[in-house]
Amino acid sequence: MLKSIGVLTSGGDSPGMNAAVRSVVRTAIYSGVDVWGIYNGWRGLLDEDLKKLERKDVGDIIQRGGTMLGTARCKRFQTVEGRKLAYEHMQKYGIQGLVVIGGDGSLRGASELSAESGVPIVGLPGTIDNDVWGTDYTIGCDTAANTIIDAINKLRDTASAHRRVVVLEVMGHHSGWLAITSGIAGGAEYILVPEEEYDMDIICDDMKYAYKQGKRYILVVVAEGVASGIEIGKIIEEKTGIDTRVSVLGHIQRGGSPTVQDRVKASQLGEKAALALISGMSDVVFGFQADRVVCINLHDAVNNKKQLDPEYLRLSKELF
Ligand code: F6P
Repeated sequence: MLKSIGVLTSGGDSPGMNAAVRSVVRTAIYSGVDVWGIYNGWRGLLDEDLKKLERKDVGDIIQRGGTMLGTARCKRFQTVEGRKLAYEHMQKYGIQGLVVIGGDGSLRGASELSAESGVPIVGLPGTIDNDVWGTDYTIGCDTAANTIIDAINKLRDTASAHRRVVVLEVMGHHSGWLAITSGIAGGAEYILVPEEEYDMDIICDDMKYAYKQGKRYILVVVAEGVASGIEIGKIIEEKTGIDTRVSVLGHIQRGGSPTVQDRVKASQLGEKAALALISGMSDVVFGFQADRVVCINLHDAVNNKKQLDPEYLRLSKELF
């Protein structure tokens, strides 16, 4: 049994991280275990920016986006020396294990720290991209997809009024999950994801034909990993001659009060992570498969690439 654990959030923040932190902290305290909040991701461990948390410290946060612990992308932690220092600081404060909440980069760092120092680590997938292998779900993806839908609904109004093509660029450098999910839910005509290749000539010919047949407007959702929305919009306008406008949603997608799904799932995952770590488990990530909490090997999670659901890809083309 571990008697003292730490929790940190790392990488891009995502709505629901607070619910996960709250759950980890309250589960640990309920189990009679000390829990340290480490601020600003791995950087906080290197800079000794940490504090022992009490139940009340995680009150009034479940409804908030972002992360009360702060987060960072920490270059120093990517070095062996950096991770050695992180381990030494854990020893200094008597922190016997860590719950790490973040995306694939953060979990990779966790996996390296555990391999090099033997320190017990349990990961939780926290990223709006929903691109962590072994889990259908990552904390924050639902809120982000709903934020995109809200934007799509508004863009439809103005696109229809003007008979325009509207291109919406959404996040996702290597993963098209956000684009494909929100594109399907928002009824987009074209959804461009990094997992597939596109022939803009064919797409633009289709668009011209559709307009000739009386189509009022066209909505294109493009993941940032394909190309910038500006580039795609320029190509479309040049090739079709149709008035085209571009919106880049940017970091708006990362903020906002988490949805019910993100709050509940993050709470479930936080509890499982804390209990597993306290009981001596290590090198695992908790996620969801078929709506049930599952335990995945940490090294597998970071060494495999999650594929975009082929059913989503098929559906997006069929419903166009
Ligand atoms: O990893 C989450 C994510 O939101 C990606 O979708 C996006 O490409 C990236 O973070 C943006 O990172 P930053 O906030 O550091 O610019």
